[in-house]
Amino acid sequence: MSDFTPRYLADYRAAYFSITRVDLTFELEHQKTRVTNQMHFTRNKAHNLPLVLDGEQVTLVSVKLDGEILASTEYQVDDHSLTLAVDRDDFQLEIVTEINPADNTALEGLFKSGDAYCTQCEAEGFRRISYYLDRPDVMATFTTKVIADKRQCPHLLSNGNKIAAGNLANGKHFVQWHDPFPKPSYLFALVAGDFEVLRDQYLTMSGRDVALEIFVDKGNINKAHHAMASLKRAMAWDEQTFGLEYDLDIYMIVAVDFFNMGAMENKGLNVFNSKYVLADETSATDVDYFNVEAVIGHEYFHNWTGNRVTCRDWFQLSLKEGLTVFRDQQFSADMHSAAVTRIQNVRVLRSQQFAEDAGPMAHPIRPEKVIEMNNFYTLTVYEKGAEVIRMLHTILGKEKFRQGLDLYFSRFDGMAVTCDDFINAMADATGTDLEQFKLWYSQSGTPLLTVSEYYDEQNAQYHLTIAQSNNEQPALHIPVGIELITSEQQNDAHLLALTKAKQSWTFEGVKEKPVLALLTDFTAPVKTNFPQSDQALACIMTRADDEFCRWDAGQKLLTTYITRVMKQPQMSLPDSLYQVFESILSADTAAAFKAEQLTLPSFNELVDSIEAVNPIALLDAIETVKRSLAKQLAPLFLKQYQASAQAGYSHDGIAIGKRALKNVCLSYLVTLDNHEHLLSQQYQSANNMTDTLAALSCAAAYPSQELNTLMADFAIKWSDNTLVMDKWFALQASINNDTIFDKLSDLMAHPLFSLKNPNRARAVIAAFTQNNPRYFHCASGRGYQFLIEQLVLLNDINPQVASRLITPLIQFKSLDAKRQSMIKEQLVKLQQHDKLAKDLQEKVDAALA
Ligand code: ARG
Ligand code: ZN
Repeated sequence: MSDFTPRYLADYRAAYFSITRVDLTFELEHQKTRVTNQMHFTRNKAHNLPLVLDGEQVTLVSVKLDGEILASTEYQVDDHSLTLAVDRDDFQLEIVTEINPADNTALEGLFKSGDAYCTQCEAEGFRRISYYLDRPDVMATFTTKVIADKRQCPHLLSNGNKIAAGNLANGKHFVQWHDPFPKPSYLFALVAGDFEVLRDQYLTMSGRDVALEIFVDKGNINKAHHAMASLKRAMAWDEQTFGLEYDLDIYMIVAVDFFNMGAMENKGLNVFNSKYVLADETSATDVDYFNVEAVIGHEYFHNWTGNRVTCRDWFQLSLKEGLTVFRDQQFSADMHSAAVTRIQNVRVLRSQQFAEDAGPMAHPIRPEKVIEMNNFYTLTVYEKGAEVIRMLHTILGKEKFRQGLDLYFSRFDGMAVTCDDFINAMADATGTDLEQFKLWYSQSGTPLLTVSEYYDEQNAQYHLTIAQSNNEQPALHIPVGIELITSEQQNDAHLLALTKAKQSWTFEGVKEKPVLALLTDFTAPVKTNFPQSDQALACIMTRADDEFCRWDAGQKLLTTYITRVMKQPQMSLPDSLYQVFESILSADTAAAFKAEQLTLPSFNELVDSIEAVNPIALLDAIETVKRSLAKQLAPLFLKQYQASAQAGYSHDGIAIGKRALKNVCLSYLVTLDNHEHLLSQQYQSANNMTDTLAALSCAAAYPSQELNTLMADFAIKWSDNTLVMDKWFALQASINNDTIFDKLSDLMAHPLFSLKNPNRARAVIAAFTQNNPRYFHCASGRGYQFLIEQLVLLNDINPQVASRLITPLIQFKSLDAKRQSMIKEQLVKLQQHDKLAKDLQEKVDAALA
């Protein structure tokens, strides 16, 4: 089987052997680390198949079977496996491998982040450390001994509890760890290095005293307090909300600068991208603070949803990720404004997940075919997966959802299970038929709801019809929350169960034609086709009880006018639109919510719903609408801007909301002539990163003489702060003028730039493709070409990062013909590149198929 052969969910077979215990010894050396792996195997059922272990990029040193060294003729090795015929049912295998952490730029398996050693094993990285049955349904208890130079690596960490430690010859020392919970190899972790440690403790609800430790680079300890406080809030929240408690005596988090994704939930030893740990008042934005708390929560919640109950195979990834994202979203909603948190979740879905579901890599939340597993850590598996869990929560209600979850844990604790197992537990515990609901796990694409209504005045009846469609696939069970708004005091709220292709409801005793607010709290991840008049939308904006619908009605109204202006750039906007905005600006609503109402739908939220779209025309239309609103309502924006200023800095919800509101007002004001002074004023007087960055991003969007001065000043101030310099690189890459391509070359040649650091690579490349759409999509095709050039380089350095960055180039379906053909031409070049990693190959092939 070649590396590029797809694997199918339908081909799942239980493992032929089990591994019950693993005893690992790591002798850490920069370029030559030796791993001794003693495994205890048992044969599953009667068969005489050979043992086939996974292994990649490792050098095999020796194999011992029950203590006897095997000759190299007694097993076969190729570049992804080791095969051994054994006739015993119960045996011990000792495999010694050598690996090279220093040259591991893919950052999978054991690698170096600066001077520290660390691991990333999910999904299939453990096989880059040793030969193993590297699949999540093989679960063993691990004992890990780490040996390293004591001065270079005073801290030696692995999963579980510390059981031994001591000094060795030649300045070395060791620590040995034991994890009592059987786990799959993807949850294995090792970290070694010189860190500062922030220590705290947490007393669980049943009285277990847990030591909490956060390891950061020296000098950063003051930036770890927010992460620690977030961790304690997450631990308490999971006890209160789901009765779930932590289960070891120690919980460690390590922050590293080199990391492919956000963070990793290894048992008892989370490894984090430092971006999701470090935060302090001067260097982190409000969004950074929010994200640190959310990711800390996410990884902590995995201890139950992922670790105690794990996935049978990687096709089931959403079992743990969808559920854990849902849990972290609920946590965030409880810690902050629930409505604003929900709005932000929906923006992510609409701007990214819908595009994925409409693109060449579309897949169900439980994929059926995978070439490179790393390509399936997607918005679909995570965010749509969370929406599916949320629908279940909506359908069952909070109490029954909890009963279902309780049954799930009591049935499956310590096991590796499937999405069906999860749904069956929810169904059994609550006596609910969820067979149709299961279709959400096997269908890709975003369903479209087409809604029609009819009011029968004579009989005081309101008739509502909803049809669902998703590429001819069978009807799903879709919960649809609605509100009927009339002049009555109370709106009439309902939760409809849409289970047929087309279904109608009749509401009796409706004394006047109601206004329908559809999809309250966004009860389902769907698109809607339900044209409503400006008046109806304005009514929803002020009268709906559901805050999500109030916000969404405004977005719909804006979308209508942006699309119209795109087709007819000279048209003028109606007074009614200005009035709606005027009332938003003058209303007495919470600042954070108001900021969301004032934020226009983004380019990415709009682009895939317009056929053959010229992206520049769309950007122009968004800009025109923004500028017209700013012009018409300038005094109000300015007043709101000034009224939202705060003397000191604080970090409570009110203060955060005010900053958001102030900065969205700023983004309108700077579209007007002679308002640039606001930017430098705000930049000079800011006492926090949110305000500083807001001023700079406006400056990058509307570049003036001053931009370079401000950017240079910022770079001098923050040159020794890695995370802030990532922001600086991202700002530079989003500068909205035609010096951008020279700027990009300068950035790539900057002494602080390296493609080997994923955060830095993303800071330039993703910031350009995502935040600078005018130049990414420029008519010359230079933007596309730039991305391809970087992908070719990254392919050899870090295929996983390359594969994430290609996204905007494969989602071209809605673009105009000229751009589609320019993109395809570039993709063909990439496809022909020899030694393309399977990560990129899978996506390019899908895009060109
Ligand atoms: N399980 C991790 C999380 O959700 C992410 C792991 C991603 N792994 C990968 N190979 N992309 O927190
Ligand atoms: Zn996760």
